[in-house]
Amino acid sequence: MRLKLYKPCSRFMKNRNLEAQFTLFPTDNEFEDSKKETTSDGAELVSFRDLVPEINDTGYLTHAIFAYPAKFIPQIVRYAINTYTKEGDWIIDPFAGSGTVGVEAYLCRRNAILFDLNLLLNHIMPLKVYRSKERLPEADLHKLLEGMRARKHRFIPAWSNVAYWYAPEMLDVLSRYWGFIHNADNTVYSTIVKAALLKVSKRFSYTEDRTPKLARSKRKLQAIEELLKENWREQLDEMVHSLSLKTLKSLNDFVVYTQHIFEDLGEIEFHGGVDSSYVAVPRVCDALITSPPYLQAQEYIRSTKMELFWLGHTEEEVKELSRLEIPYRKADRVIQTETLDKVREMLTRDDLQKRLDSYFCHTVNALENSMHQLKLNAAACIFVGNPRIDGITVEIWRILAEYFTERGFVFEKVYEDRIKTRKLFGARKNKNPDGMKSEYLLILRKSAICHT
Ligand SMILES: C[S@@+](CC[C@H](N)C(=O)[O-])C[C@H]1O[C@@H](n2cnc3c(N)ncnc32)[C@H](O)[C@@H]1O
Repeated sequence: MRLKLYKPCSRFMKNRNLEAQFTLFPTDNEFEDSKKETTSDGAELVSFRDLVPEINDTGYLTHAIFAYPAKFIPQIVRYAINTYTKEGDWIIDPFAGSGTVGVEAYLCRRNAILFDLNLLLNHIMPLKVYRSKERLPEADLHKLLEGMRARKHRFIPAWSNVAYWYAPEMLDVLSRYWGFIHNADNTVYSTIVKAALLKVSKRFSYTEDRTPKLARSKRKLQAIEELLKENWREQLDEMVHSLSLKTLKSLNDFVVYTQHIFEDLGEIEFHGGVDSSYVAVPRVCDALITSPPYLQAQEYIRSTKMELFWLGHTEEEVKELSRLEIPYRKADRVIQTETLDKVREMLTRDDLQKRLDSYFCHTVNALENSMHQLKLNAAACIFVGNPRIDGITVEIWRILAEYFTERGFVFEKVYEDRIKTRKLFGARKNKNPDGMKSEYLLILRKSAICHT
């Protein structure tokens, strides 16, 4: 394997913190390298979808069982895993969301440790990385669904204004289905039905089920009014059944896909409800692969609170988590880098300055906690956008590169993936989420002189 001297291009060199850095990175094929297209920023222009043609469906196997705002596309994660880790490695993701890194790590025979503030992670992962050699028979699922008709128990979420979100007749049926499933034995089948009920409980509510925020919309109120005049009970039952069967099929596809590598499959640890800014990471890791929250325009806990309540979480728990969410909490230190200081100077609005400070303080804290536990030469792969805040572009990858190189990490490279269409939530296509035109995968390497 030859080593190629990588020199950051001139625009990148304007930054004094990074100026002194010349990075050695290995390459097998210098000719291939010379064909790579770079931007004026020194970023390597790529399309992760094209780089990983073996994944041609972002929702393949178990990836699409749960809806989640701003999910990774699996191609990015697969590329980072293939390029920066080897079999048996431990990967950490401190902002795991719906666990895309966990699924891809498992399929590639890596281990992963996942953290996220959102408790949904604990409900998502047992299905998304369903570990079994045996396919699940449909008959057992049918038996459970049949039993649901008995509906002896009721479950009303511990949510003070639940009635605001539902027509009374629909709330009554949903509360009986949830009552049944919360009282059923805790098996993979009851978890499958819960996943279906989550989608059904959103569809049969007054909230727009295709937008990130929980919001009662006029369109949805009218749609529910219309449904109430129709055979809505049959439609609701049909949705529970078809979604449950679809999930069962995804799990069986997953079992078949992993059967031949079963003995080599890794461990996936997951910890939902954890504030990564203050967590002590319990193990040494070989790589970090993560996508931090957006600087604005996304509130993950608020967006998913309907699901959390139906799953049995309380208003107090949800409030407490919302309080810890990045970037909606107070900064306890001010992060300074050349680029970030310039943005701060340009921002005139006090509230936006506070949000910027909060974002970088807590995002950096979380990354530092994880990167502290990386082995020597391990790669940190951080996927971020370039959002605009009050008309000013915030180059997050550059700010993070400046911060961490000052603390001994080596800047290896940055990939730029131009956004064509991105699904932020469900079927709503957003051509330019958060005012971003590109997304970036920043690669840093841990060196012997790191002091984070
Ligand atoms: C861009 S999303 C990650 C999506 C994930 N890559 C996936 O494929 O589903 C960012 C995540 O950061 C989480 N988050 C926000 N504040 C956090 C905190 N203080 N500690 C841990 N996670 C946090 C959010 O709950 C959200 O799931």
